[in-house]
Amino acid sequence: MSEATPRYRILFAASEAWPLIKTGGLADVAGALPAALKARHHDIRLLLPAYPEAREGLAQPRAGGRFQLGGYAVELLRGKLPGTRVPVWLVDCPALFARPGNPYLGPDGRPWPDNAQRFALFSRVAAHLAGGASPWRWRPEILHCHDWQTGLAPALLADDAERPASVFTIHNLAYQGRFSYATFAALGLPEALWSHEALEFHGDMAFIKGGLAFAHRINTVSPGYAREILTPDFGCGLDGLLRHRKARLSGILNGIDTRVWDPARDPHIAAPFSARRLAARSANKVALQKALGLKVDDRVLLAGNVGRMVAQKGIDLLCEVLPAMMERGMQLVVLGSGEAHFEARLQQLARRYPGRVAVRIGYSEAMAHRIEAACDLFLMPSRFEPCGLNQMYSLRYGALPLVHRVGGLADTVFERGEDSDNGFVFPRPLAADMLAALDRALALWARPAAWRRRQRNAMRADHSWRHSAMEYEALYARALADRRADRSAMEPAGGGKTVLAPETG
Ligand code: ADP
Ligand code: GLC
Repeated sequence: MSEATPRYRILFAASEAWPLIKTGGLADVAGALPAALKARHHDIRLLLPAYPEAREGLAQPRAGGRFQLGGYAVELLRGKLPGTRVPVWLVDCPALFARPGNPYLGPDGRPWPDNAQRFALFSRVAAHLAGGASPWRWRPEILHCHDWQTGLAPALLADDAERPASVFTIHNLAYQGRFSYATFAALGLPEALWSHEALEFHGDMAFIKGGLAFAHRINTVSPGYAREILTPDFGCGLDGLLRHRKARLSGILNGIDTRVWDPARDPHIAAPFSARRLAARSANKVALQKALGLKVDDRVLLAGNVGRMVAQKGIDLLCEVLPAMMERGMQLVVLGSGEAHFEARLQQLARRYPGRVAVRIGYSEAMAHRIEAACDLFLMPSRFEPCGLNQMYSLRYGALPLVHRVGGLADTVFERGEDSDNGFVFPRPLAADMLAALDRALALWARPAAWRRRQRNAMRADHSWRHSAMEYEALYARALADRRADRSAMEPAGGGKTVLAPETG
């Protein structure tokens, strides 16, 4: 870090962070970005709800203070994010968070009925610790919030003269935290927030609007998605607001944790390998074929997919092209869980093609690593993808990604007919386009030297967090400049400030 780069005090609030608790890519980001910022000497603290898994994962949690907020008794527990030097503060409120399993869904697979209360409290704690009435001596200059679960925090701070600069990161605009007016009223939020410029959204409230309307800076997790969400096709009804705040919106590509995802030192895989020792890779393919009951054959093109089985991920397209993949002699392995109808359809296809299609329903970090190390192709036909991490893991593991040209996939995977190509890209989310890309993949597979060249290109890409962490630093600097500007605007000669005015521009 150069002498000139400032060191910021940052409160980083997220609803999940690997390895304490994870449902998707947000956890990977909230686990790795704070560590990358810490490595650059920033004074960062990670705030998470104290779900049972998170508590258990925190070695020797210590008491960090108690207070009452929004009608709840809250205790803070502090520790370190495992494997890092990042301080973690867990928001302990057993009535809301002491539930095992998925942080957002109950055992019936439906959202917990009190999610509004749960994440309103979490947002309130973030705002409380960051604002003028904080019981902490340590006060952040930057409050960095992620997704709807933290969206109320920037809104709650809007009228606080001592508020920090706020940054709101959109990981997925489709999840908005929408609740009824009755819920808004029950939460006891300032009445001024019930307005179209604030939280109100088509007669409901949307937590995410708190972040979008009130944060000093908004960003999303790839430059491509930052452009797409300004359009009605990808804006999920919020594109108008985002266009209004376009000057404050940017895109920063996620990184990946290159220590956790390192084919040369991965404890989960059968045989370590690297771009220079590519031949060692095939032992992983054979091991996976054996383990999953697929026909063991190194010459067959093995495709894989790992992820949430939801409409976003284009699972329907995958199912649609699967018979044609079989006709072409390919194999497929799928790991994931999600909507029951997708799980059932994939399991049915696995029964139809024994020895050629393997489907594992569930969540397994180890299996995800083994799939990346074994597959020749990694399929991501997502209809939209704010960033996507799996294609970056795939690049690093030499499993050539085959992706729909959208969002972060289009920013990381290239097929332009150039020497630098690192995967396969199809233009529209249509089975015909995907199949054409699969045929291009098969044609390249028939030319082993050309395939290996593309694999080496893929493995050469540097998607470590270092670069993205520097971009976040620059974003924090811009948020602080905005904060300074709004402070001077709040102190006009005649006094008088606007109550709860959303940020403009
Ligand atoms: P999203 O956040 O939309 O789910 P990302 O590609 O950003 O998509 O991140 C998904 C993360 O979750 C990756 O680290 C991926 O490996 C992991 N993941 C998703 N489903 C599973 C699963 N069933 N087993 C293991 N890891 C999974
Ligand atoms: C979201 C997006 C995914 C992104 C992840 C982490 O869950 O769906 O594309 O990679 O967040 O930012």
